[in-house]
Amino acid sequence: MTNIEQQILALREQLNNYNYHYYVLSQPLISDFEFDKLLAELQQLEKENPQFFDPNSPTQRVGSDINQNFTQVKHQYPMLSLGNTYNEAEVADFYNRVAKALNAPFEIVCELKYDGTSISLIYENGELVRAVTRGDGEKGDDVTANVRTIRTIPLTLNTSTHRLTESPNHPCIEIPDKFEIRGEILMPWKVFEDLNKEREAQEEPLFANPRNAASGTIKLQNPSEVAKRKLDAYLYYMLGENLPANTHSGCLQAASAYGFKISDAVKVCKTLQEVMDYIKYWDTERKNLPVATDGIVLKVNDLTQQKNLGYTAKSPRWAIAYKFQAEKALTTLLSVSYQVGRTGAITPVANLVPVQLSGTVVKRASLHNADIIEGLDLHIGDKVYVEKGGEIIPKITGVEASIRDLFAEKVQFITHCPECGTALVRDEGEAAHYCPNEAHCPPQIKGKMVHFVSRKAMNIDGLGEETIDLLYRNGLARNIADLYSLKLIDLSLLERMGEKSGRRILKSLESSKQVPFARVLFALGIRYVGETVAKRLSAKLKSMEALMQASVEELMSIDEIGESIAQSLVAYFAQEENKKLIADLQEIGLQMAVDEQMQVAGSEALKGKTIVISGTFTQHSRDELKALIELHGGKNTGSISKNTSFILAGENMGPAKAEKAAQLGVPMLSEQEFLSLIEQNNV
Ligand code: IVH
Repeated sequence: MTNIEQQILALREQLNNYNYHYYVLSQPLISDFEFDKLLAELQQLEKENPQFFDPNSPTQRVGSDINQNFTQVKHQYPMLSLGNTYNEAEVADFYNRVAKALNAPFEIVCELKYDGTSISLIYENGELVRAVTRGDGEKGDDVTANVRTIRTIPLTLNTSTHRLTESPNHPCIEIPDKFEIRGEILMPWKVFEDLNKEREAQEEPLFANPRNAASGTIKLQNPSEVAKRKLDAYLYYMLGENLPANTHSGCLQAASAYGFKISDAVKVCKTLQEVMDYIKYWDTERKNLPVATDGIVLKVNDLTQQKNLGYTAKSPRWAIAYKFQAEKALTTLLSVSYQVGRTGAITPVANLVPVQLSGTVVKRASLHNADIIEGLDLHIGDKVYVEKGGEIIPKITGVEASIRDLFAEKVQFITHCPECGTALVRDEGEAAHYCPNEAHCPPQIKGKMVHFVSRKAMNIDGLGEETIDLLYRNGLARNIADLYSLKLIDLSLLERMGEKSGRRILKSLESSKQVPFARVLFALGIRYVGETVAKRLSAKLKSMEALMQASVEELMSIDEIGESIAQSLVAYFAQEENKKLIADLQEIGLQMAVDEQMQVAGSEALKGKTIVISGTFTQHSRDELKALIELHGGKNTGSISKNTSFILAGENMGPAKAEKAAQLGVPMLSEQEFLSLIEQNNV
């Protein structure tokens, strides 16, 4: 082994150990600064010595940014679900069934039922080799690249004795050569709330609960995006031929020593009473946990007893889930009000007689849309059930129609916008009603301004929702263009705004004149024109002028632009107000076309080519290579198929990819060959 290799291995082990103490044990051993320094040192060494690349190195936690397509993998042991129970009597039935079938003493392990998305992890020789989603139970998606970014999942297991002696309560147990461990990937409440706040600001749809957010995240195509989402994982089930113990609790204890995050709430119970006490305790205590739980899982502890009990077609006979009751409250519906969103979508909201629910007072509940109201057959004054479930906003789940007042008035969905009086429209196949008065309906105008100044759009510092509301109410800004006529005196006179903040806003508005065309287009807030669509349109049509002249057919001929986007664009540019707004923004000096320099640098050298990037590179980062492919008219994709034109192959390309390329006869170009190819065409 060379000196460099030894150094790399030692650094990896050291960093793995620090990670374990920080994320799994929540007991950091060194400061973030010292950690980052060591990590940077390892990154440098790995960059200089790409022959020692390892996908399980702690440097790989940030995830690659190439898109991936998931391959389906068959589970060695099918991933079954658990039978559910909902009350103590059903739990007692399970306990007695087990007692009768075993006819011998037994223990029950009680655990929390974590409410996320289940995952199966395969380890070989102490290394994570594969991570697969549950899928249909028989086969799932290979999401290894995404799972590698989850800090609480060990990529390399604790083997060195020094690490085991640091946790004296862990027995020193040999790690099986090959085993599977299952658990739950979770998005902690705090991360979930922050993510939804950010999505709200970006006008992206919100996740209903942390479970959806976790399962959505683990299926993202770009691992570096997954890395940003700060997922967590608890492991609860070990499978394999040579397990470290003959009890479930023993296996979990061993797994904890290997470096997995095992819940502290696992308890071995010897009697039914202990099980009941556990359920009772956690039914309230779970509300203080940083992650969502939806019940308790009971498992027979002894693995031989588990085997003897066996399985039904769907679930094990040796385990069962107890589901917590979703908390419900009964209250009275006072009225329904209607909110107008920034895109004009109307959301009905129920106003209720205030009622206590899971520690907070609930006064309002979402009613979603007209169909939900109709489905509930809602009347004013109805006694309604509100539930929180996993969702942030409570919802009405039922009506006590039996105690309804005979003359109660049925809730009728409004026909006109409550803010501007315009008749509402409902597009075919859509659940929501819209106010079509985009240009003059106050919440829509304000919403458009908020979107315009947001980070991913024009990124105007210091202008938030409240300030925009003040500017609008004081008549200082009635549309986006007005923002650029603001004077320091206007801003300083607003409530809670000093001269310094005013100056900052003006400076930021001035620098927004350099924001590239694609972002200006996104910032306009045209329906269905999100970030990606705006980039695509800007790359193809190059200027606002060309975009405004394009017909629905022309727009639809662009890759990834469908009919609704095309129609929305044409409708937007047909409106006089919008044409005037764009003319004003042009006059102000915003970028209305792709930057000249970029156009010169680009070419059509890779037109019609589909290129896969694989391996590590020396002259450019993957991001840069990806940008170069796009700049020269090519398309970057994640997986090799017969349509791949060539592979841009760096060092250490994975053996599976190399084999597939050879099989399909797809050529490979080195970084240098690729660069010469685009240069030649550029002269
Ligand atoms: S054990 C064969 N333990 O609940 C039994 N499952 O309906 C395997 N879950 O798909 C599961 N917390 O996603 C087990 N402590 C826990 C759990 C748990 C959550 C989920 C898991 C599984 C579902 C069962």
